[in-house]
Amino acid sequence: MPTLTPLLTAEQIQRRCDELAAEIDAHYRGEPLVLLGVLKGSYQFLSDLSRRLTAPCMIDFVQFSSYGNAKSSSGVVQIRKDHDLNIEDKHVLIVEDIVDTGLTLTHLLELLNTRHPASLRVVAMLSKPEARTHEALIDFTGFEIPNQFVVGYGLDHAEQFRNLPFIAVLKD
Ligand code: IMP
Ligand code: MG
Repeated sequence: MPTLTPLLTAEQIQRRCDELAAEIDAHYRGEPLVLLGVLKGSYQFLSDLSRRLTAPCMIDFVQFSSYGNAKSSSGVVQIRKDHDLNIEDKHVLIVEDIVDTGLTLTHLLELLNTRHPASLRVVAMLSKPEARTHEALIDFTGFEIPNQFVVGYGLDHAEQFRNLPFIAVLKD
Protein backbone atom coordinates (compact mmCIF):
# COMPACT_ATOMS: atom_id res chain seq x y z
CA MET A 1 0.00 0.00 0.00
CA PRO A 2 1.42 3.42 -0.94
CA THR A 3 1.60 5.85 1.97
CA LEU A 4 1.65 9.64 1.96
CA THR A 5 3.75 11.43 4.57
CA PRO A 6 3.02 15.18 4.72
CA LEU A 7 6.02 17.38 3.86
CA LEU A 8 4.63 20.87 3.18
CA THR A 9 1.18 22.06 4.21
CA ALA A 10 -1.12 24.08 1.98
CA GLU A 11 -0.56 27.06 4.31
CA GLN A 12 3.23 26.83 3.99
CA ILE A 13 2.95 26.65 0.20
CA GLN A 14 0.58 29.62 -0.01
CA ARG A 15 2.80 31.72 2.26
CA ARG A 16 5.83 30.88 0.12
CA CYS A 17 3.87 31.90 -3.00
CA ASP A 18 3.28 35.32 -1.40
CA GLU A 19 7.01 35.71 -0.80
CA LEU A 20 8.05 34.47 -4.24
CA ALA A 21 5.58 36.79 -5.99
CA ALA A 22 6.98 39.73 -4.02
CA GLU A 23 10.55 38.75 -4.95
CA ILE A 24 9.65 38.35 -8.61
CA ASP A 25 7.76 41.66 -8.73
CA ALA A 26 10.73 43.41 -7.12
CA HIS A 27 13.05 41.84 -9.69
CA TYR A 28 11.06 42.81 -12.82
CA ARG A 29 9.85 46.22 -11.55
CA GLY A 30 6.66 46.24 -13.61
CA GLU A 31 8.22 45.02 -16.88
CA PRO A 32 5.84 42.76 -18.83
CA LEU A 33 6.54 39.06 -18.41
CA VAL A 34 5.83 35.81 -20.20
CA LEU A 35 5.14 33.09 -17.63
CA LEU A 36 6.00 29.78 -19.24
CA GLY A 37 4.53 26.88 -17.29
CA VAL A 38 5.92 23.39 -17.73
CA LEU A 39 2.96 21.01 -18.01
CA LYS A 40 1.43 19.33 -16.26
CA GLY A 41 3.06 19.60 -12.86
CA SER A 42 3.24 23.39 -12.67
CA TYR A 43 -0.49 24.06 -13.09
CA GLN A 44 -1.27 24.73 -9.41
CA PHE A 45 1.89 26.76 -8.82
CA LEU A 46 1.44 28.84 -11.98
CA SER A 47 -2.13 29.59 -10.96
CA ASP A 48 -1.23 30.64 -7.40
CA LEU A 49 1.85 32.60 -8.42
CA SER A 50 0.29 34.43 -11.37
CA ARG A 51 -2.64 35.69 -9.29
CA ARG A 52 -0.19 37.34 -6.90
CA LEU A 53 2.02 39.08 -9.46
CA THR A 54 1.37 42.73 -10.19
CA ALA A 55 3.51 42.83 -13.36
CA PRO A 56 1.56 42.50 -16.64
CA CYS A 57 1.75 38.80 -17.59
CA MET A 58 1.18 36.66 -20.64
CA ILE A 59 0.82 32.95 -19.98
CA ASP A 60 1.92 30.03 -22.09
CA PHE A 61 2.92 26.40 -21.64
CA VAL A 62 5.40 23.83 -22.82
CA GLN A 63 5.29 20.11 -22.23
CA PHE A 64 7.96 17.45 -22.40
CA SER A 65 7.66 13.73 -22.65
CA SER A 66 7.11 12.47 -19.12
CA TYR A 67 8.66 9.79 -16.96
CA GLY A 68 5.72 7.57 -17.82
CA ASN A 69 4.82 5.76 -14.65
CA ALA A 70 8.37 5.39 -13.39
CA LYS A 71 9.71 7.31 -10.42
CA SER A 72 13.04 8.16 -12.03
CA SER A 73 14.02 9.90 -15.23
CA SER A 74 14.48 7.95 -18.45
CA GLY A 75 17.24 10.44 -19.29
CA VAL A 76 15.55 11.35 -22.58
CA VAL A 77 13.84 14.71 -23.03
CA GLN A 78 11.54 15.32 -25.97
CA ILE A 79 9.26 18.29 -26.50
CA ARG A 80 5.60 17.34 -26.80
CA LYS A 81 4.02 20.80 -26.79
CA ASP A 82 5.90 23.95 -27.72
CA HIS A 83 4.85 27.46 -26.63
CA ASP A 84 2.56 29.47 -28.92
CA LEU A 85 3.66 33.03 -28.06
CA ASN A 86 6.64 34.62 -29.74
CA ILE A 87 9.18 35.10 -26.93
CA GLU A 88 11.76 37.10 -28.88
CA ASP A 89 12.75 40.21 -26.86
CA LYS A 90 10.34 39.23 -24.08
CA HIS A 91 11.19 38.66 -20.42
CA VAL A 92 10.49 34.97 -19.96
CA LEU A 93 10.04 33.32 -16.57
CA ILE A 94 9.92 29.51 -16.67
CA VAL A 95 7.57 28.17 -13.99
CA GLU A 96 8.54 24.66 -12.85
CA ASP A 97 6.98 22.37 -10.28
CA ILE A 98 10.23 20.66 -9.31
CA VAL A 99 13.83 20.48 -10.44
CA ASP A 100 15.14 16.98 -9.82
CA THR A 101 18.12 15.88 -11.96
CA GLY A 102 18.00 19.22 -13.81
CA LEU A 103 17.85 17.46 -17.18
CA THR A 104 14.50 18.91 -18.28
CA LEU A 105 15.41 22.42 -17.26
CA THR A 106 18.82 22.27 -18.96
CA HIS A 107 17.17 21.25 -22.25
CA LEU A 108 14.45 23.87 -21.92
CA LEU A 109 16.95 26.68 -21.22
CA GLU A 110 19.04 25.64 -24.23
CA LEU A 111 16.02 25.54 -26.49
CA LEU A 112 14.53 28.86 -25.37
CA ASN A 113 17.86 30.67 -25.56
CA THR A 114 17.94 29.97 -29.31
CA ARG A 115 14.73 32.06 -29.54
CA HIS A 116 16.39 35.19 -28.15
CA PRO A 117 14.24 36.26 -25.21
CA ALA A 118 15.19 39.60 -23.59
CA SER A 119 15.84 37.59 -20.42
CA LEU A 120 15.27 34.03 -19.30
CA ARG A 121 14.78 33.12 -15.66
CA VAL A 122 13.43 30.19 -13.66
CA VAL A 123 11.12 29.89 -10.69
CA ALA A 124 10.72 26.40 -9.22
CA MET A 125 8.38 25.53 -6.36
CA LEU A 126 10.62 22.65 -5.31
CA SER A 127 14.27 21.73 -5.79
CA LYS A 128 16.06 18.49 -4.89
CA PRO A 129 19.71 19.63 -4.83
CA GLU A 130 21.00 16.13 -3.98
CA ALA A 131 19.47 14.67 -7.13
CA ARG A 132 21.18 17.06 -9.52
CA THR A 133 23.16 15.52 -12.39
CA HIS A 134 22.83 18.56 -14.67
CA GLU A 135 23.70 21.93 -13.25
CA ALA A 136 20.64 24.11 -13.74
CA LEU A 137 20.49 27.55 -12.23
CA ILE A 138 17.21 28.40 -10.53
CA ASP A 139 16.60 32.11 -9.93
CA PHE A 140 13.71 31.76 -7.48
CA THR A 141 13.20 28.60 -5.38
CA GLY A 142 10.19 27.80 -3.22
CA PHE A 143 11.60 25.01 -1.07
CA GLU A 144 14.67 22.79 -1.14
CA ILE A 145 13.61 19.25 -0.25
CA PRO A 146 15.41 15.92 0.36
CA ASN A 147 15.89 13.43 -2.47
CA GLN A 148 12.55 11.67 -2.04
CA PHE A 149 9.61 11.21 -4.39
CA VAL A 150 6.87 13.73 -3.65
CA VAL A 151 3.32 14.20 -4.88
CA GLY A 152 0.59 16.81 -4.60
CA TYR A 153 0.29 20.48 -5.55
CA GLY A 154 0.49 19.51 -9.25
CA LEU A 155 2.98 16.66 -8.85
CA ASP A 156 1.82 13.18 -9.70
CA HIS A 157 2.64 9.54 -9.55
CA ALA A 158 1.03 7.74 -12.49
CA GLU A 159 -1.26 10.81 -12.92
CA GLN A 160 -2.60 10.56 -9.38
CA PHE A 161 -2.40 13.07 -6.51
CA ARG A 162 -1.98 16.23 -8.65
CA ASN A 163 -5.05 17.86 -7.10
CA LEU A 164 -3.84 17.70 -3.49
CA PRO A 165 -3.35 21.21 -2.03
CA PHE A 166 -0.32 20.02 0.01
CA ILE A 167 2.92 18.17 -0.78
CA ALA A 168 3.67 14.72 0.62
CA VAL A 169 6.38 12.06 0.31
CA LEU A 170 5.09 8.94 -1.45
CA LYS A 171 6.35 5.58 -0.24
CA ASP A 172 5.21 2.15 -1.32
P1 IMP B 1 14.28 16.49 -13.91
O1 IMP B 1 14.42 16.56 -15.40
O2 IMP B 1 14.92 15.22 -13.40
O3 IMP B 1 14.83 17.69 -13.20
O4 IMP B 1 12.76 16.35 -13.53
C1 IMP B 1 11.79 16.71 -14.43
C2 IMP B 1 10.38 16.37 -14.02
O5 IMP B 1 10.28 15.13 -13.34
C3 IMP B 1 9.77 17.35 -13.07
O6 IMP B 1 9.36 18.54 -13.72
C4 IMP B 1 8.59 16.53 -12.58
O7 IMP B 1 7.53 16.59 -13.49
C5 IMP B 1 9.17 15.13 -12.51
N1 IMP B 1 9.59 14.82 -11.13
C6 IMP B 1 10.83 14.89 -10.60
N2 IMP B 1 10.83 14.57 -9.29
C7 IMP B 1 9.55 14.31 -8.98
C8 IMP B 1 8.88 13.94 -7.74
O8 IMP B 1 9.47 13.79 -6.66
N3 IMP B 1 7.53 13.77 -7.83
C9 IMP B 1 6.82 13.92 -8.99
N4 IMP B 1 7.41 14.28 -10.14
C10 IMP B 1 8.75 14.46 -10.14
MG1 MG C 1 7.64 19.22 -14.49
